[in-house]
Amino acid sequence: MKFPCRLDKFVSHTSELPRSKVKIGIKKGLAVVNGEQVSKADHTIQQSDTVEWEGVQLVYLGKRYYMLNKPTGYVCANQDDLHPTVFELLDEPNLKDFHVAGRLDLDTTGLVLITNDGDWSHQITSPKKQKYKTYLVETQEALSEEALEQLRQGVALHNEKNLTQPAIAEQLDKYALRLSICEGKYHQVKRMLAAVGNKVVELHRENVAGIELDSQLAAGEYRLLTEDEVNIINAR
Ligand code: URA
Repeated sequence: MKFPCRLDKFVSHTSELPRSKVKIGIKKGLAVVNGEQVSKADHTIQQSDTVEWEGVQLVYLGKRYYMLNKPTGYVCANQDDLHPTVFELLDEPNLKDFHVAGRLDLDTTGLVLITNDGDWSHQITSPKKQKYKTYLVETQEALSEEALEQLRQGVALHNEKNLTQPAIAEQLDKYALRLSICEGKYHQVKRMLAAVGNKVVELHRENVAGIELDSQLAAGEYRLLTEDEVNIINAR
């Protein structure tokens, strides 16, 4: 939410009541701003204003940043008709303005960053910023040194004009590698492995732009980022 904003928007956002209900309530005199009853829905609210609704102070929680250990079967979207969304795993108020900073596929697990700070997430998702994302990749076929070298140098993805940017590829065992890429094309890791004649059977994101998935978080669990973690992005 951006300030200044309308009173009805502020109340609806912070109370999670529908805007239509809020407008009726404001007319009935349920809203008090800085100690004065206000009956106009378009009254301007500044971030420093104190707003009460039915005698209870409404608090705007400001910018928030979460890391989630995404399980499979959850979609990185605000709404979906077929599958549960990652937002259903967050037991937090006022999530309407939140978005995922870099999606994962339905069947991919691991680090998902969720925020209401668009400038911050732009630093992560903008192709120009070249932020690295690190994945643990399990493959169907054994990995050859030649395939790893191709991934490092750049491979041709189906329907893409340019080769992928140089990647960091470290073999972990015959069927597993750690891959860091600084792009975020649709199904990029799966397509990169397909380009070297292999297939991803499991994909897990460990790190985004220097923010590491907390090993204490079981699949489906989340926590707020620390100030230091938030600043990893702001600092670059
Ligand atoms: N690359 C993929 O193919 N899928 C993901 O979920 C993330 C990166």
